[in-house]
Amino acid sequence: MAPDTVPAPGARAVLDQAARRRTIAVISHPDAGKSTLTEALALHAAVIARAGAVHGKGSRHGTVSDWMEMERARGISITSAALQFEHHGSVVNLVDTPGHADFSEDTYRVLAAVDAAIMLLDAAKGLEPQTLKLFEVCRHRNLPVLTVINKWDRPGLDALALMDEIESTIGLRPTPLTWPVGIAGDFRGVLDRRTGGYTRFDRTAGGATVAPEDHLTPEQAQALEGEAWTTAVEESDLLAASGADHDQETFLAARTTPVLFASAVQNFGVGRVLDTVVEVGPAPTPRELVTGGARPVEAPFSAVVFKVQAGMDAAHRDRLAYARVCSGVFERGMVVVHATSGRPFHTKYAHAVFGRERTTIETAYPGDVVGLVNAGNLRPGDTLHVGAKVEFPPIPSFAPEHFAVVRARDTSRAKQFRRGIEQLDQEGVVQVLRSDLRGDQAPVLAAVGPMQFEVATYRLEHEFGAKVMLDHLDYGLARRTDASASAALRGVRGVEVLTRSDGEVLALFVDRWRLGTVVKENPDLLLEPLVGARV
Ligand code: G4P
Repeated sequence: MAPDTVPAPGARAVLDQAARRRTIAVISHPDAGKSTLTEALALHAAVIARAGAVHGKGSRHGTVSDWMEMERARGISITSAALQFEHHGSVVNLVDTPGHADFSEDTYRVLAAVDAAIMLLDAAKGLEPQTLKLFEVCRHRNLPVLTVINKWDRPGLDALALMDEIESTIGLRPTPLTWPVGIAGDFRGVLDRRTGGYTRFDRTAGGATVAPEDHLTPEQAQALEGEAWTTAVEESDLLAASGADHDQETFLAARTTPVLFASAVQNFGVGRVLDTVVEVGPAPTPRELVTGGARPVEAPFSAVVFKVQAGMDAAHRDRLAYARVCSGVFERGMVVVHATSGRPFHTKYAHAVFGRERTTIETAYPGDVVGLVNAGNLRPGDTLHVGAKVEFPPIPSFAPEHFAVVRARDTSRAKQFRRGIEQLDQEGVVQVLRSDLRGDQAPVLAAVGPMQFEVATYRLEHEFGAKVMLDHLDYGLARRTDASASAALRGVRGVEVLTRSDGEVLALFVDRWRLGTVVKENPDLLLEPLVGARV
């Protein structure tokens, strides 16, 4: 065994703690109900007294400060990146994937920090573009995916048709654990496909408390629901006949996806989601190393940074880094090594940026997320460790869909401009593409979401003293290519070839149609989709 994989003292305790962890993220298209489900999950885990405390959205009550009060009082922890709660003796870390307008590479990077994902679909809409993009990252990482069909209380698609759509669109075989009784819009409860029993839902006012559930036998279900029950049983039998039953091995191998039906807003079926995460969700496993092999979870402390965020105090330009513990124990105050620079990193300032009297993360185990302040040198993908050097593979850059040429407004600030661009590139705020044709004064910035441009522009001006102009380009997608394509595509309309700072050669296309014609005319060119691209 290599010296750096010698188990730390208390390896047994670390293994036990790791085995209890379920670190997951919800992937969904905006409006599918992610915030509602997050609140409902926390509610079921009984960490909050009423819905609304997590996000404080709309008509729901509660604010973030409410939440922080509660956090103090109950000893649970939430950062803006992760919500931690216990359920049936397990510790669930629900890592937030910002959706909505701030969709960016950060959203994808979160998936480098989790062990499984919940794919949340709106029953009326099925698979939507953002879910598909996020799913591509899950596929790339081979992450097990649990599917939740939400909003079954509203008219929507046919349940079997939804299963077909999942299988034909993303190639994951759905293996429903529950099956709805009543069509979308007439949600009465679910058939438990494992026991054959019926879980009947009772409405509660506004879904404000945990929805009461009755557990009935098939005979009672038949007497109560008649036709709706018969249909559910027939459809479930049909699924069984086609082999669509849950199989733990194929789920963990990311070939099948267990499916549950829910109405998050009414708290229907949400308890079952939580039970399923705990029952079938994977615990942290050894993480692959750049040097080959994998770091066992009981090895001394190591973590991977997956998100870096500007701190609250702009004057100090403080950064908060979120790291996922991969092995060993994190204890606040410990001095770890930043693998990229080889420098020590002091963790005693964890969370000081929030001005809290005490941090709630004193100790963390594999699977947990730790927020670190004074993280000026930490970048997404960096490794932190103790003992001999440990390095996890970098988080890949994702398929950009927005492109803009950036120039300094004032040419006398060229030096500041260059330094700023280099820094933002290293931090992964935006991707930076160059070509001889465009020159170094006018690189192309590439992003997954347009918000990344806003952050880059703001920081170039305020941090580096370089005001910039952005010229948005018409390109909408990128493919990985090579130098030979660069020559072949020179001068072709609606296409441009540039080199990213990590050395990848990217061909940009105005749209899918242009890409299609180029592929047809140049069948031998290398044009591969990038991570996160819809194939
Ligand atoms: P997001 O975080 O994925 O963007 O979605 P969010 O939870 O904010 O939910 C989007 C809308 O869908 C909200 O309505 C929410 O109440 C509704 N919703 C979520 N789950 C369900 C469900 O199971 N059934 C039904 N019928 N609706 C659901 P809104 O009107 O936009 O906001 P609000 O005023 O209700 O908060």
